[in-house]
Amino acid sequence: MKKIKTAVFVSGGGTNLQAIIDREKAGELPHVALSLVLSSQEGAFAMERARQAGIPAFACVKKKLGSQAAFEAALIQKLEEHEIELIVLAGFLSILSEDFTKRYERRIINIHPSLIPSFCGAGFYGLKVHEAALARGVKVTGATVHFVNEIPDGGEIIAQKAVRIYPGDTPEKLQKRVMRQAEWKLLPTSLETVAKEMASRDLNQ
Ligand code: GAR
Repeated sequence: MKKIKTAVFVSGGGTNLQAIIDREKAGELPHVALSLVLSSQEGAFAMERARQAGIPAFACVKKKLGSQAAFEAALIQKLEEHEIELIVLAGFLSILSEDFTKRYERRIINIHPSLIPSFCGAGFYGLKVHEAALARGVKVTGATVHFVNEIPDGGEIIAQKAVRIYPGDTPEKLQKRVMRQAEWKLLPTSLETVAKEMASRDLNQ
C-alpha cells in the first residue's frame, strides 16, 4: 500500500501531534507515513513527543533566521530532504506566505479550534478562540480541519465537529473539551482521508 510521506508543523505542546502518533501506531492511518516534525519554537514539547516516537524533529525559528523568506526556505529545505508530500499544521502558530501555500496547494491541512467561519482568521489562535466564543455567548463551538491557502483559515473545509458549551465554562475548560471531543479525533481521521485520496491518485497516474 502506498503511504504518503507526511510532515507535522507544531509550535507548542503537541497534543494534536500525539493524537496522530497514537493513531498511526495503532495502525489506524494506513496511508500515512509520519516522516518529519518541524517546530517554529525551539523548546516546544511537541519536539520531545516526536523524538520519543522516533520521528526526526527540527526547529526553524523565524527570529533566528531573520526573515519570512529565510524561514520558509529553511522549512522547504527540510521538507525536500525528507521527500514530504503532505503537511499537517497542528497548533502551528506562524503564518505561511502565499508563495509557500501555492507551492503545496491542497497538500497542507490545518486544525482550527472553532466552527469556521466563526472565530477564525488572523489573531484567532489557541485560547483566544475560546475566549472569543465565550464572550459572544454561543452555545455550540467545535473544531474544523481545512486545506490551507493564502487566506488565514480560508481554505476549503474538509471536516467539522460540534462541541457544546456549558454555563460556567472557562476558556481553559472549553479548550480541553474541544480537544478531547473534536480535535484529537477529527485531525487524524481527516489526515487519513486526504492521504488515502492522494495515494489512490498516485496509483492511477
Ligand atoms: C489546538 O487547539 C489547535 O487547534 C490550535 O492550537 C492548539 C494547539 O494545541 N490551533 C490554532 O489555534 C490555529 N489557529 P497542541 O499543540 O496541544 O496540539
